[in-house]
Amino acid sequence: MRQVYLDYNSTTPLAPKVKKKIEEYMNGQFGNPSSLHSFGLRAREEREWAREKVAQVISAKDSEILFTSGGTEANALAILGVGRKAGKEGRKHILSSPIEHPSILKCLEVLQKEGFQVEFLRINQDGVVQLEDLEKKLLPHTALVTVMAANNETGAIQAIQEIGRILKDHSACFHCDAVQGLGKMDLDVNMLGVDLMSLSSHKIYGPMGAGALYVRKSVKMDPLIPGHQEKGLRGGTENMISLVGFGEACGLLLEKDIHKEQRRIRDLRDGFYQALKERFPFIRLNTPLDHSLANTLNLEFPRWEGERLLFALDMAGIAVSLGSACSSGSLSPSHVLTAMGRTP
Ligand SMILES: Cc1ncc(COP(=O)(O)O)c(C=O)c1O
Repeated sequence: MRQVYLDYNSTTPLAPKVKKKIEEYMNGQFGNPSSLHSFGLRAREEREWAREKVAQVISAKDSEILFTSGGTEANALAILGVGRKAGKEGRKHILSSPIEHPSILKCLEVLQKEGFQVEFLRINQDGVVQLEDLEKKLLPHTALVTVMAANNETGAIQAIQEIGRILKDHSACFHCDAVQGLGKMDLDVNMLGVDLMSLSSHKIYGPMGAGALYVRKSVKMDPLIPGHQEKGLRGGTENMISLVGFGEACGLLLEKDIHKEQRRIRDLRDGFYQALKERFPFIRLNTPLDHSLANTLNLEFPRWEGERLLFALDMAGIAVSLGSACSSGSLSPSHVLTAMGRTP
């Protein structure tokens, strides 16, 4: 049976060049990058080569990239690390949006239990954060504002540059979960005005188990895992095999014309939506087609049970998701669609 994989926001297959790079690394090396001998030195060189590639895709300095095990850990390090450090100085106010990835929302819950006040910014019916609400809710002691670049369920793109502008002269750190944006939109950290940015390898044809957190030099934060690696902010021997794959995947992005590729994918998606709409006129669209990731289409089939549709499509060889990959195993309605005012 021919299989059609339509779940690229959950994960992507390894690019052949990434696979080759990983194989070459595994065949030739095994050193611990913290070792002082030549085996360690070669591993260190590979790690720093990967760091340079990651830094380049977001126009950051190599020294501002911390490697993590993925987007979830990068988000946790940003939210808990910055939050707890600011909390010690009495700044315990955080702003976010209700449509963030569960890895953000769970960390915010942790901080709430530690006495932080977390407020959520209003979004419109397209799932876009309302900037005037940010201006209204921003307080002198706000420690952190965290808003994602693009939503993993609907693809809605947020006004990150405008948020960065609003926060420019404020002491709050601005964190952006750009896991879904990487490779699909411009992510220049200086142009966007972000202080922290989370990235993940397996969304860009790299391996699972690698990610990064961009941390602007001025940011003060505590580690989650103490240790000497990654400037003392993320202890533990690096997952070298995944890191070199991540570096190669970023290298491939640097060679690509992202805008041209997005136009090609957008045409495919819009054509697919039109064809579906003709065949099933009752479907409802949850993706704002004109300001969303080109690859994402979120559709509602009123009165059709999501799980039954998913399994029927799977039987036919077509893989889709019902929501975020982390929560799509559950039967509860999507928190993103609920926040947008959609009723199940
Ligand atoms: C927006 C967003 N943030 C964070 C993550 C978590 O990334 P990882 O799977 O690398 O832990 C995901 C994964 O689906 C995501 O879509």
